[in-house]
Amino acid sequence: MTRHFLDVDDLTPAELGRVVELAGEEEPPAVLGGRGVALLFEKPSLRTRNATEIAVFQLGGHPLTLRAEEVGLAEREPVGDVARVLSRYHAAIAARVFEHHKLQELAASSSVPVINLLSDDAHPCQALADVLTLHHHFGRLAGLELAYVGDFNNVARSLAVAAASTGIKLRVASPAGFGPTPVDLARLDGLGGPPAVTSNPREAVDGADAVYTDVWTSMGQEAEAAQRFRAFEGFTVDEPLMGAAAGHAVFLHCLPAHRGQEVAAEVVDGPASLVWQQAENRLHATRGLLLWLLGA
Ligand code: CP
Ligand code: NVA
Repeated sequence: MTRHFLDVDDLTPAELGRVVELAGEEEPPAVLGGRGVALLFEKPSLRTRNATEIAVFQLGGHPLTLRAEEVGLAEREPVGDVARVLSRYHAAIAARVFEHHKLQELAASSSVPVINLLSDDAHPCQALADVLTLHHHFGRLAGLELAYVGDFNNVARSLAVAAASTGIKLRVASPAGFGPTPVDLARLDGLGGPPAVTSNPREAVDGADAVYTDVWTSMGQEAEAAQRFRAFEGFTVDEPLMGAAAGHAVFLHCLPAHRGQEVAAEVVDGPASLVWQQAENRLHATRGLLLWLLGA
C-alpha cells in the first residue's frame, strides 16, 4: 500500500520515532537511485523548497520544482490527472497548496507517496523538524512542557498532533476565535493528547521547557492582517513572557518571523532561540521522512 504524509498522524508514534532516528543518518543510502521527486508550490517558500530539494539530492534523486500555476493544478488539468501523470515519472510527489483537499485528491490518484509541504490546515514536515529540534536539545520528548502562543494555524495544528503522538505536554494560548476548534480538540483527544487551552499567554508559558509561536497572518490571509493585528495584541513573545517559562526554556519559530509582532527581536535573536537549528533540521527531518517513505 502506498503511504502518504498529509499530516503527522499518518505515521504511528513508533513510525514517527523511526523517522526522527533516520533524520540522524549521516550517510544515507541513495534510495532514490536517480529517480525524481516532483515539488509543486502554490505558495512561496524558502526553507521547505531548499530543504526538500537538497534532501532529494542527498538521497540520490532529482528534485523537480514547479509552481502550481505552471501546471495549472485543478485549472488546466484535474488534480487526479496531475497525480497519475507525475506518478509515472517520480518516486514521490510533494506539494504546498492552499486547500488541504487538493493533497487528498493527489493522494487518491497517485501510485507514489504524496507529501504535504504545507496546506492551509497542516504543516507536518515542519512538525517533524520541530520534534527533531526538541529531541536534539533535551534528549527526550515525552513529558516536555511546550507552550504555543498565537494563532492555532497549520503549523500549530501539526505541532499539536506531533505533541500528542510523542507525549509532549502542550499548552496553547490564543485570542478568542483563533484557538483550536472543537474538531481539533476532538481529534487531539482521540490521539490521547488534548492540549490545555487558554487565552492568557502567561498561563500557557508558566514553567514551560519550550515556547513556540508563528505569524499572526498566514499566507492567503493577507486581507485579514489589520483585524488579526488588533486581535493578537498582547500575544507577542517578548522577554517578560519568556521570563515566565523555565529558566532553561528555548524559543522556537518555524520562520519567517515578524520581529515586533508575534516575537520580539530580543527573543528570536537571543540566546534561548533555536530557530536556525530548527530551520536546518527541516533538511534532516525531510531526508528522514523520504528514507522512511521510500523504504530504507
Ligand atoms: N517554515 C517554512 O515552511 O518556511 P518556508 O515557508 O520558507 O518554506
Ligand atoms: N503559518 C504560516 C507558516 C509559514 C511557514 C503560513 O501558513 O503562512
